[in-house]
Amino acid sequence: MERTYIMTKPDAYERGLVGRIITRIEEKGFKITDMKMMRLDENILKEHYAHLADKPFFPEIVEYMTSGPVVGMIVEGNGVVDSMRKIMGPTDGLEAMPGTIRGDFANNKSENLVHGSDSVENAEIEIKRFFG
Ligand code: CDP
Ligand code: MG
Repeated sequence: MERTYIMTKPDAYERGLVGRIITRIEEKGFKITDMKMMRLDENILKEHYAHLADKPFFPEIVEYMTSGPVVGMIVEGNGVVDSMRKIMGPTDGLEAMPGTIRGDFANNKSENLVHGSDSVENAEIEIKRFFG
């Protein structure tokens, strides 16, 4: 069965939106097969966001992502990787359509509530990174 790695970000925790994000996953019919609350450090963020580690705004991403707890989940289902990206909406909450998580709850491209793997291959790498 296809799997993806979903992670609520610290702003979702701070704003009390973790449950609503989980609800959207469940309403779609996908199964959460593992879940844990964590505090991330800079080292794991350099791995997880390796494609952004050279960007001038990377320190801000680290500050944001270490500002509170995240909730990591393994989510299973047919086509779950692409479907979850659609349910999340694009990176920038101002671009994301209403009805998507980011479209409904985010208004910028940094603090956007949720992470979801962007390919089946990366999903397996991320699941291994966060769940071992
Ligand atoms: O999360 P997504 O896959 O949609 O976007 P990404 O390009 O892989 O970027 C990862 C995360 O870095 C985003 O979700 C934002 O939280 C942050 N980011 C940012 O703060 N500013 C940007 N210009 C791009 C990304
Ligand atoms: Mg990404």
